[in-house]
Amino acid sequence: MARRKRPLFARWYPGLAASLETRGLGERRRLLLAGLTGRVLEIGCGHGVNFPVYPEAVSELVAVEPEERLRDLAREQAAALDRVVTLLDGQAEALPVESGSFDAVVTTLVLCSVDDEDRALAEIHRVLKPGGALVCLEHVASANRAIRLGERAFDAVFWSHAFGGCHTGRDTGAAIARAGFETKDLKPSRYPDLPFPLSVSPHLIGTARKPVQL
Ligand SMILES: C[S@@+](CC[C@H](N)C(=O)[O-])C[C@H]1O[C@@H](n2cnc3c(N)ncnc32)[C@H](O)[C@@H]1O
Repeated sequence: MARRKRPLFARWYPGLAASLETRGLGERRRLLLAGLTGRVLEIGCGHGVNFPVYPEAVSELVAVEPEERLRDLAREQAAALDRVVTLLDGQAEALPVESGSFDAVVTTLVLCSVDDEDRALAEIHRVLKPGGALVCLEHVASANRAIRLGERAFDAVFWSHAFGGCHTGRDTGAAIARAGFETKDLKPSRYPDLPFPLSVSPHLIGTARKPVQL
């Protein structure tokens, strides 16, 4: 399944991300990734914004990014950090890596943008070792049904087209559970935490686990 390229998004996303990092997003990334160990796969790594945050205990880092410009920036980021990262062209729905070979898979702000979320999660499940962790920070649909319906309509007519295939109305927690993960350590969170509803504010953050025995 060939994914549509989004070169315009790839141009402006790094600038937007930079403005969010200093407003609390960077701290959330640090807390989320601090406990990682072993062989880690990051999907949709963008320009490598998570690379400085990975702890020493990560013995090998493989990153998949479908946009060429973002992959190039990620390669530059890895070089600037003097960190070995194997960067692969590819997409979440057909991961170019072996089954059962990773201790953890990381997605930050990615499952909102993949073309086929169920297929991407089936692939993540495939490549994790039994007991392996899906470590994620994702914005998700509102818990309020009426707002959620509005989000999905807004996605269809405007948001997804303007923001690189992003969807505000995805129930990613349910999709992760449907894919066979244990989800008790995935927690709801808000970012940004504003006194009024904003379609990208509800988040899910934490770890879902591939069960040891199926
Ligand atoms: C909003 S950006 C997030 C980038 C980075 N993970 C971060 O935390 O800032 C979404 C990323 O997902 C990537 N992406 C979109 N569709 C994808 C797919 N089907 N498979 C893998 N990555 C995808 C985009 O190219 C982009 O790098």
